[in-house]
Amino acid sequence: MFDRLPEYPWQQLKPYSALAAKHPGGAVDLSIGSPIDPTPAVVQQAIISSANAPGYPSTAGSLAFRNAVVEWFERRRGVTGLTEANIMPTIGSKELISFLPLFLGLGPLDAVVQPKAAYTAYAVGAALAGAQIVSEDDPELWPANAKLIWINSPGNPDGKVLDVEFLRKAVAKARSIGALLASDECYAELGWDGKWATEVIPSILDPRVTDGDISGLLCVYSLSKQSNLAGYRAAFAAGPADLVKAIVNLRMHSGMITPLPVQNAVVAALGDEAHVLAEKELYRDRRAVLLAAVREYGFEVSSSEAGLYLWATLGEDCWVTVQRMAELGIVVVPGSFYGDFSPNHVRFSITATDANIAEAAKRLRDAVSLR
Ligand SMILES: Cc1ncc(COP(=O)(O)O)c(C=O)c1O
Repeated sequence: MFDRLPEYPWQQLKPYSALAAKHPGGAVDLSIGSPIDPTPAVVQQAIISSANAPGYPSTAGSLAFRNAVVEWFERRRGVTGLTEANIMPTIGSKELISFLPLFLGLGPLDAVVQPKAAYTAYAVGAALAGAQIVSEDDPELWPANAKLIWINSPGNPDGKVLDVEFLRKAVAKARSIGALLASDECYAELGWDGKWATEVIPSILDPRVTDGDISGLLCVYSLSKQSNLAGYRAAFAAGPADLVKAIVNLRMHSGMITPLPVQNAVVAALGDEAHVLAEKELYRDRRAVLLAAVREYGFEVSSSEAGLYLWATLGEDCWVTVQRMAELGIVVVPGSFYGDFSPNHVRFSITATDANIAEAAKRLRDAVSLR
């Protein structure tokens, strides 16, 4: 009855966390991308001021919420032409990702496409709907029975950014198949390398991608990472008004409503760029410290030009690397958690305190000096 999904994969990491905890300095857990810095004061104040919320909130989102998202898309992402009819709140992004195939009415004859190295919720959504899951990055190879195609830029786990040229190809192919192209973009404010250090990471709704036509496209965004709001479940999606209206209708029926205090917190968070930029500087430093040590240890780091992870390989089976790191008291995630195509990679998260990142870097360096 409950066999559509296996046990939550993180359970398999428990023995390695236990091994890492035996390190004299304790475990440094770099496995989960859960923010650790405080929720910005401006956002905390907004939720406190909204504590009196006796009535049901709007499933479609308050007008203030939707207008704040429209304004943010234009100001931070260069996406023009949206109105409040294009926006809906979600309860974090993960629930929307996991339930979208059900909302779309997909079944066994339909395929959901995900990246080859993929955040786990895309496949969960396909499994809950009983749809097929296909892992394919190349738009030319997306199957004709695809009804929902997930792209993820910057990517989790690989930190890869998809440029305008790729996104245009993806849009054209998805439209030719008649599939909804959904783009998961929650790391978009966290570009590090190459042109992404300075250029805006393009949204699927960017006019350079869409030429002004957003039909068949859905952008999924979360404030969990950029504003340390994972605990609030604060997120939204944007797409064509008829699609948004249809999904909101199903969410209304099923009670998937973002609490009004959280909607108000999102308005405050989107209106304040300073905390996002300050948080980015913290991550920039942590990333630099960890990246140098990971490379010194001998890892080859792939992509990772944006986002909160280092996607790295020693050229061996990922579980051997997980064990190797656990012996140093560091917990990392095996590439096998993200599909069948990354058997030799592991993921390091940079969402740890400065002290823990420094400690992980020291342990990696000490291991090198003992070789
Ligand atoms: C690629 C990607 N999408 C979506 C999410 C979900 O974020 P949330 O449910 O906290 O909004 C995450 C979280 O790690 C993620 O990495």
